[in-house]
Amino acid sequence: MRHPQADNRTVIGLLTADAAFAEAVAATFAASSQIDLKRETGRLSGREADLDFGDTTIAIVDLDDAAEAEVVALQKLMLHARDWPPVIAVAKDFDASLARALVQAKVADFLVKPIPAVELVRACARLSKRDSGADAQIYTLLPSAGGVGVTTLAIQTAMLLMNSRGARMRPSTCLVDLDFQHGAVADYLDLEPRLDLGEVEPRPERLDRQLLEVMLSQHASGLSVVAAPHRPAEMRSFDPQVVTRLLDLVSSNFEYVVFDMPRTWFSWTDSVLLGSNHIAIVSEATVPGLRHAKQLVAAIKSRLSGGPEPRVIVNRFNQKMFSGGLTHGDLEQVLGESFATAIPNDYQLVREAIDRGVPLEEVKPGNKVTQQLKKYLLPQVAGKVASKSPLLSKLRLAPAR
Ligand SMILES: Nc1ncnc2c1ncn2[C@@H]1O[C@H](COP(=O)(O)OP(=O)(O)OP(=O)(O)O)[C@@H](O)[C@H]1O
Ligand SMILES: [Mg+2]
Repeated sequence: MRHPQADNRTVIGLLTADAAFAEAVAATFAASSQIDLKRETGRLSGREADLDFGDTTIAIVDLDDAAEAEVVALQKLMLHARDWPPVIAVAKDFDASLARALVQAKVADFLVKPIPAVELVRACARLSKRDSGADAQIYTLLPSAGGVGVTTLAIQTAMLLMNSRGARMRPSTCLVDLDFQHGAVADYLDLEPRLDLGEVEPRPERLDRQLLEVMLSQHASGLSVVAAPHRPAEMRSFDPQVVTRLLDLVSSNFEYVVFDMPRTWFSWTDSVLLGSNHIAIVSEATVPGLRHAKQLVAAIKSRLSGGPEPRVIVNRFNQKMFSGGLTHGDLEQVLGESFATAIPNDYQLVREAIDRGVPLEEVKPGNKVTQQLKKYLLPQVAGKVASKSPLLSKLRLAPAR
């Protein structure tokens, strides 16, 4: 991080005289417990001397109507302020002379009001690439229907990522079961679930690294697991703040994080998806299944423009010629660009793994399910390391309404 904060927080400085804009920016960053907003009210002219943004990661300066006094003040500031972070200038209008002035002043970015939340997040994320780099690559798997195999594939994904650099170097990896009501991760891996969100809920700030460690379950393979005990009778949803806090904490303490998502869309679902680097929708290999998956892709894309592209993993695929079922070509045709891969159907293998509470590789090393997933995942792992955006995972937007 450019200006190190003791507990890995990011502080964004905001100077504006526009109350509505200040509120919009505050709402954008409110849902993240790891981002603080340092709000200053007023115009830049006359405040150059007393404005202290030295401890912020990014400064947003609102020039509003870009009156000459404001532009001059910004130029002066950029010339003299040594300990300032990258500046994002904001204005109501844009013309060539303002553009020139801003280029000369060497601002890092420039946005014109009204600014969609996603644009602001993107601009901040881009500038914070020089950030700590301590945040995880996040893989999120979500179902297109019940029982399609999300939990099975989430476990395999986590195992593959953890072993993606060979046996000697294990990147720290955490699998988080966000299906708080019916989660099966702990069962499938024969672990005792230890997450107690109820205990944290009254005071989310209590959830720190130490408490997280208490609430982690450790699998013999080295995989860390966050899972809550079953509460089948208890239909409750948690305060999104608690969930967000958990996500922030996990993503700043592991290199890889895999989320097993529930079917229900919660108020925190958008935040999870937006903070992810990869989104996979798991579908069954049937026509209605694919149709559902396609609708979900479209829904996610329109809800979260600017987030990662969701891709569809078709699970339990039988590629038998003349069987009358869907072919690989059919999948590609129906799903187009969103088609990720087709995972073979191997009931016996998956069943045995679940019954014994072990990953698939332990039942049958080199099995086709794992191999196919690996073929899809690992090239991405190799290619995506450099393009990660640590801040993006912290910038959990308030749920879109
Ligand atoms: N590739 C596969 N081949 C054969 N069977 C599979 C495969 N993947 C999953 N299954 C089976 O499908 C069933 C559902 O799997 P899983 O629990 O992983 O799905 P899920 O989407 O998490 O379900 P839920 O909606 O209950 O959370 C399990 O019985 C599992 O054995
Ligand atoms: Mg499941």
